[in-house]
Amino acid sequence: MTRCAAILCLSGLLLVPVGCSTPTATTEPTAATEPTDPETGPATSEARPKREPIEPSAEAQAVVDANDRPESDRRIDERRRAAEMLTFMQVRPGMKVADLMAGGGYTTELLARTVGPSGVVYAQNNAFALENIVKGGLDKRLQREVVANVVAVAAELEAPLPEAATGLDLVTIVFSYHDAIALGTDVAALNKAVFEALAPGGRFIVIDHAAPDGTPLSKAEALHRLDEAMVVQQVTEAGFRPGRTSDFLRDPADARTAPSFKVGFETDRFALEFIKPQS
Ligand SMILES: C[S@@+](CC[C@H](N)C(=O)[O-])C[C@H]1O[C@@H](n2cnc3c(N)ncnc32)[C@H](O)[C@@H]1O
Repeated sequence: MTRCAAILCLSGLLLVPVGCSTPTATTEPTAATEPTDPETGPATSEARPKREPIEPSAEAQAVVDANDRPESDRRIDERRRAAEMLTFMQVRPGMKVADLMAGGGYTTELLARTVGPSGVVYAQNNAFALENIVKGGLDKRLQREVVANVVAVAAELEAPLPEAATGLDLVTIVFSYHDAIALGTDVAALNKAVFEALAPGGRFIVIDHAAPDGTPLSKAEALHRLDEAMVVQQVTEAGFRPGRTSDFLRDPADARTAPSFKVGFETDRFALEFIKPQS
């Protein structure tokens, strides 16, 4: 992945592409008839579910509504569907969680507030991200008492967690699995490491921008999107069984052919749960 592409991915959060010639993020008009991408084939919104709202739990809504959250986080809650995301993740007080490719910690903080002081959240970033993308942003966030239960982890994705991170209840990777693919990560090693860090019955949540069905993984860098089926295949190969999915981030109006960073994060997105079997 180019440095420019990486920064644009982060700008999916900020909508501020930095220092590169790629066009500024725009909200593209949604196509009345969906275009056919010559390499990926037609988008088929008819086959995709409409966005069905999850009813956010009272606990999740209270976390999102906390008045001491950073203003920059609050600004993206709506497009991240923050309360719905936490509800879908079924994160609970006291849980041991890892948030992979945590970036500046938007998702990490929501998780940390939910698990509370009796829980822990490992927030992983690799060396490149820390130096070139996060640039101290996570450290600054973690100076606050409300996220004292977060352990920042600097590690590459093939071995993303420290030895102490065992028996986890939940691992999340939010809008970043496509970056892992684009980076050339050994995803079999990544998914194996996640599997091993989880307790039996523990869950792995992958949320990402959807590419048209059948899109090859080689398009991950260009599109910053993935074919959901490819993710299911890769994660289940590590021993997980598919769990719940939800439509709260789906948008059938998105043709899925434009790079996600060009459509202002209002993309068709999938949310997948995978479960480590009990035995
Ligand atoms: C859209 S952000 C999502 C961050 C976080 N998961 C969240 O929910 O807010 C994508 C993240 O992917 C990671 N990333 C993107 N490009 C990368 C690269 N070239 N090398 C390492 N990490 C990268 C960065 O951590 C970046 O913050």
